[in-house]
Formats: sequence, structure tokens, C-alpha cells
Amino acid sequence: MRPFSALARVYDRMMADVPYAAWAAFVLSVLAGEGAYPRSVLDLGTGTGASLEPFCAYGLTGMGLDASEAMLARARERLPGVPFVQGDFRTFQLERRFDLIVSVFDSLNNLTDPRDLRTTFQRIHAHLRPGGWFAADLNTPLGLEELWEDGVWEGEGYRLVHRYDTEQRLGHIEATILTPEGPVIEHHVERGYWPDEVAAWLSAAGFGRVRCLEYPDAALAGRHSLRFWVFAQRPNGSPSRM
Ligand SMILES: C[S@@+](CC[C@H](N)C(=O)[O-])C[C@H]1O[C@@H](n2cnc3c(N)ncnc32)[C@H](O)[C@@H]1O
Repeated sequence: MRPFSALARVYDRMMADVPYAAWAAFVLSVLAGEGAYPRSVLDLGTGTGASLEPFCAYGLTGMGLDASEAMLARARERLPGVPFVQGDFRTFQLERRFDLIVSVFDSLNNLTDPRDLRTTFQRIHAHLRPGGWFAADLNTPLGLEELWEDGVWEGEGYRLVHRYDTEQRLGHIEATILTPEGPVIEHHVERGYWPDEVAAWLSAAGFGRVRCLEYPDAALAGRHSLRFWVFAQRPNGSPSRM
């Protein structure tokens, strides 16, 4: 079964302890330190909308995009009135621009081919207004190897088993989800990315200022980091490539 389809049934229960509001506060405070106060936000890989909700609570006008209709159905229930569209990171075309584009809870690690991540950075650049910012959290290869200490994450109605392939830099997750029709299995794959390579690819896509920081202390991220937040600004006056 496609990833994030049956998982939508249990996703919010799985993520009950994730500090989405604190992450949104972190993003907005880093941007305030840059003199940026965004009023509109696009959440790429919005899932059930949990990562977009706190930005809306801060008063930003939100929009969410995701590949999974099952996840989007939950998002539309959570945030009625907010537009949610089905689309792919690598190809989306929304005919509007945003002050801020976010991608939360390592959604971009689902792109396992670096060329796809670089294409996505071009799509993001095209959808930011000049001077706008992109912010995303990603797992590093070290993080994918170490974050899942015992390799299993389970709760009511779900069991996720993780295995890391060091050579390929890929984390494989086999998710078993209980449904009324019986157990369903989904395979998820994530690739780890280092801050320096992400920063280089963002620069190549036309971004100006790029910072890679650890949460919550905003320390500089590097090859010692398990996870990091990347912040990148589309320069003022940069040419349009919609
Ligand atoms: C780990 S979930 C994160 C959801 C949400 N941002 C959160 O923090 O709860 C990753 C999401 O990315 C979406 N996704 C993965 N690959 C995608 C792609 N190529 N294009 C669009 N969405 C994608 C999945 O459908 C899933 O909803």
C-alpha cells in the first residue's frame, strides 16, 4: 500500500507528543531575528495539518499541500476553510507566492533521490515572493541511524519497524496499521541529508542567505547533528521562474 494512506487513521495518535506549536514558535523567532514577519505560509507535506495549525493560530494565512488524499482528508477536518491541495513536492504549481514555505517533521527526507530534493528546492524558490523564506526540518544520516534506538515504535493500532541501510543512507520503515478490514502494511523510505549538502543545493537553486540550526538552542548544525532546521531566503529582486 502507498505510504501515508492507511497510516492516516492513526497518524494524529502517533504524533500526540510532537511539539508542533513550539516548532512554529522557533521558526517564527528565527525569522524575526532576520527581520522577517511572514503573513502567508505554505506547508509542504502538511499531512493531517498538525504542522500548519500553529502557524494559522499565529495569524498567518495558511495553505497545505500533500501527496496523500487520506492525510489531506484529516487536514480538511482539522482546519475547515484552509485550502489543502493534493500535489507532489517535485512538480507543484500553485500560481501564487508565499512569504514563508515550511516543511515539517522530515517530510523532505521522503525524497530519496537527491536530484528530487534539488528539483523541489527550485519549486519552493519559484513559490516564494522575493525576500520570502523557506524553513524545514530534516534528519541527517546520523539521525536516521541513531534516532530509532530500539528500532520499533508502537502504540494503539500501529507498529512501525525501522531498519537503516548505512551504505545507501536509507531508513526503511515497515508500518503495520490495524484497520477494520485487518492489518495493512505500508513501506516508508527516508534518505538522510547533511546540512552542508542541503545548503549547497539551496544556493544552487537561487537562495541567498542559508542557515542550518539545531532545535531548540539554534546552535549551528553540522555533521555531528541528528536533525536540523534549514532556513533559506529567496533574495529580494531575484528573477522569477514560475
Ligand atoms: C512525516 S509526514 C509529516 C506530516 C506533517 N508535516 C506533520 O508534521 O505532521 C510526511 C508527509 O509528507 C508527504 N509526502 C511525502 N512525499 C511527498 C511528495 N513527494 N510530495 C508531496 N507530499 C509528500 C506524505 O504524504 C506525508 O503526509
